[in-house]
Amino acid sequence: MIYAGILAGGQGTRMGNVPMPKQFLLLNKKPILVHTIEKFILNESFAKIIIATPKEWINYTNDILKKYQIDIPRVVVIEGGSERNDTIMNIISWIEKNDGLQDDDIIVTHDAVRPFLTHRIIEENIEMGLKYGAVDTAIEAVDTIVVSEDGNYINDIPKRETMYQGQTPQTFNAKQLKDLYAELSEEEKSILTDACKIFSIKNKKVKLVKGEVFNIKVTIPYDLKVANSIIQGSIAND
Ligand code: CTP
Repeated sequence: MIYAGILAGGQGTRMGNVPMPKQFLLLNKKPILVHTIEKFILNESFAKIIIATPKEWINYTNDILKKYQIDIPRVVVIEGGSERNDTIMNIISWIEKNDGLQDDDIIVTHDAVRPFLTHRIIEENIEMGLKYGAVDTAIEAVDTIVVSEDGNYINDIPKRETMYQGQTPQTFNAKQLKDLYAELSEEEKSILTDACKIFSIKNKKVKLVKGEVFNIKVTIPYDLKVANSIIQGSIAND
């Protein structure tokens, strides 16, 4: 089966002094999380859309799902984990417990705070996820990327043509991701903040799907202004 895992388990500390985690802040009068879920609901391929939030925000999330009339059976709210990868693992555990984990199940994981993903991006993630078992969404880097270990001096300037900026969705064969993650030491787990890296360090191929410049992640207050401009200027498309 094909599952969506909406990662809404963070606290949004980089947003500064706001009353709630950023995924619940309003964007054009609607919580960012609701914008994101609406994109997934439109796709009939998903057997379940599993949203993972901090424990203390589960009831609130169910309330907003009702308010925006998306409290439908295939949308489920569960508790996230302390790190982003823990949140993904909680979602996979939920699938295993409730539906049983099949060898060919795939999970399209997506940051709740990237509300501008498109139908094409979702479709290509599903198609490539089924084919390759691991998919990342990325855009070509437009700026030159410089590498600095200490923040003071440059160690390297990689060829720009080989540089991409990672976005989400990231799509995985759920069982394979679970098994690879279980093989990691605690130290490796703390370093591997990106789920795709769990595959790449084991020399497994991760297929790239083209993202969009407007598929931004709301991280700092400036991003919320940009997100509002994207909506008001109808810059994102489907
Ligand atoms: N996320 C999650 N579980 C965590 C941490 C993050 O599901 N334990 C989610 C966030 O809710 C967000 C996405 O992963 O949708 C991207 O993470 P990031 O922007 O780093 O979110 P936060 O951790 O909330 O932000 P910050 O680092 O500023 O605290």
